[in-house]
Amino acid sequence: MRSLSSIEEWRAYCEEVRRAGGRVGLVATMGALHEGHASLFERARRDGTVVVATIFVNPRQFNDDGDLRSYPRTPRDDRAMARRHGVDCLVEPRLDEMWPDYPRPTATTVSVRGVGDGFEGDGRPGHFDGVASVVAKLLTITGPCAAYFGEKDFQQVAVVRAMVRDLGFAVTVVACPIVREPDGLALSSRNRRLSPRGRERATALSRALARAAREPATASEVRATLRATLEEAGVEVAYADVVDPVRLVPAGDDEAGERRALVAGIIDGVRLIDNGPVTLVAREA
Ligand code: PAF
Repeated sequence: MRSLSSIEEWRAYCEEVRRAGGRVGLVATMGALHEGHASLFERARRDGTVVVATIFVNPRQFNDDGDLRSYPRTPRDDRAMARRHGVDCLVEPRLDEMWPDYPRPTATTVSVRGVGDGFEGDGRPGHFDGVASVVAKLLTITGPCAAYFGEKDFQQVAVVRAMVRDLGFAVTVVACPIVREPDGLALSSRNRRLSPRGRERATALSRALARAAREPATASEVRATLRATLEEAGVEVAYADVVDPVRLVPAGDDEAGERRALVAGIIDGVRLIDNGPVTLVAREA
C-alpha cells in the first residue's frame, strides 16, 4: 500500500493510474475505520478500481468544538485496516495543505441548498457546507473517479450527488448499503463513544426503522411509529421523518410508494443517525 500525505503526490498518483488505463476508486473517510468503511474499500476493489482512501478529520464540518475534539482518532489501526482490505493508496493530507487559512474561514465555500437543508443541516448548522467544500476539494485533487459513500449518511450522499451534478465533476457517485451489527445498530465511528447502556439504547434507531418497514402505512403513521419506538427506549429524538429519497422532501399522507425513513437521536450526548426504506400507502379520502 502506498502512503501519501502531500496533495501534489496524491494528484500525481491518480493521474498516473489513469494514464496507465486504470480507474480510480475514491473512498473518503475521517478515519476511525470500521467494517462499514471496509465494505466501501471492498466494493471499490470489486468494481476493478485502484482504491485510493483518504483520512482527513475535516474540522470545517463540525459545528461543535467538543464534537471535533472527541472525534475518535486511531491512525495505526486505520492504516492496518486499509492495508488488510486492499487499499492501494492511503492519503492522510495535512490540515495546513487542505485548509491553509484554518481556523480563519476559507474564501470559497460550497453550499448545497435544498437537499442540504433540514435534518442534519438544521441540527448541525454549517455541517453540509463543510462536507461539500471538503468533498469538492478531495474530488478536484483526485480527478475523474468513482467515489464510494455509505448510505448511512443518506443526506450526505444526496448532497454530494447534487454537487457533482451541479458543478460537473467527472465523478460517478456510488452509494453503498449500510453495514450493521448483528443487533441492527448501524456501524459508525461515533458508536465507540457510547456507554454500555447507551449502546443498548442505540439499537432503538434500527428497531424503529424495521418496525416502520414491516407493513405499508401512511406517512403520518410511519412518523408516529418511528418516534414512539425511539421515545419508548429513552432516546432524545432529533427527528423521525419519511421523505422522498432523491429530493429529501417530507412525504405527505396522500403519497404512496417507496420512500426513505430518516431518524436521528441523541444518546450519551452522541448524535446518531440511521435510515431505511419504507412503503407508504395514501390515506383514504
Ligand atoms: O462521511 C465522512 O466520513 C465525511 O463526511 C467525509 C465524506 C469523509 C467528508 O469529510
